[in-house]
Amino acid sequence: MIHLKSSREIEDIRTSCRLAAEAMAAVQREVRPGVTTGHLDDVADDYIRSQGGTPSAKGYRGFPKSICVSVNEVVVHGIPGDRVLSEGDILSVDIAVKKGGYHGDMNVSFAVGEPTEEARRLLDATSQSMELGMQACVTGNRLGDVGHVIQSFVEGEGYSVVREYCGHGIGRAFHEEPQLLHFGQPQTGRRLEPGIVFTVEPMVNQGIPDVTVLEDNWTAVTGDGKLSAQFEHTIAVTENGPDVLSRFDDLPF
Ligand code: MF3
Ligand code: CO
Repeated sequence: MIHLKSSREIEDIRTSCRLAAEAMAAVQREVRPGVTTGHLDDVADDYIRSQGGTPSAKGYRGFPKSICVSVNEVVVHGIPGDRVLSEGDILSVDIAVKKGGYHGDMNVSFAVGEPTEEARRLLDATSQSMELGMQACVTGNRLGDVGHVIQSFVEGEGYSVVREYCGHGIGRAFHEEPQLLHFGQPQTGRRLEPGIVFTVEPMVNQGIPDVTVLEDNWTAVTGDGKLSAQFEHTIAVTENGPDVLSRFDDLPF
C-alpha cells in the first residue's frame, strides 16, 4: 500500500532532504585526489549528527557505514573505507538522512579532479536522465511512463540502465512503496497522484547493464568493468507537478 503524504509530512521530508543536501555539499568540498572514501563517510556522518539527524544507511540491513561511495565501475552500495581517490575517478555519493521521524535521500556523482571526456559524457547523460524522469512525475502519468522516459534517453545516448535497483517510496520508512523501475513501457503500472513521495535514482552503465555483487554482499560492480554513474533526488507528486524535495536554490545539486 502506498501512504499518500500530507503537505505537513512533505515538509518534514524536505527538512531531512535539506540535511542530506548540506551533508552532500560538505562531502563535495573534500572530493579530491588523495582523499579516502572513509574520510568522506566521516565528514557526512559528523555533519548529519551535528544537525540532529542520523544517517539512514548506518545499520540498514547491516550496512556498516553512514553513506555509500561508489567509485568508477562500482554501480551502487560501495562501502567507504581505505580506497584513495585518484585524478579522473568518478564517484557516486549516496546520502540518506533521518530527522524528525522522516527520511530524505539523494545521490550525486562527482568527478575527482578533471574528468575524462568519456566520464563527463556519462555523468551528463545520467543526470539528464534523472531530470527527464522527474519531469514525467506528473499526476495522471503512470510509473511505467517515468521508467520509459529514462530508459529511452539512456539507451539513445548509447548507455544502459541497471535493472536490479530501483527508486522507492520514502517517508517514515527509508524504503516504502511504490518501487520505481528506471525502465519500462508507457501507460503501464500505477497511476501517479498527489501525495506520492519517492526517489528517482537511475544507475547508468557505460557498457552492459549487468551487475555483480562482491563478497561483502553490498558492493555492486558492472559486469564488464566499465564505468557506472548515478543521480538521485527525492520528489513529491503534487497538483502542480513534481516538487523536488532535495533540491535547494542555494545548493548546486
Ligand atoms: N539510496 C540508496 C537506496 O535507496 C542507499 C541505500 S543505503 C544502504 O537504496 F544501506 F542500503 F546501502
Ligand atoms: Co534511494
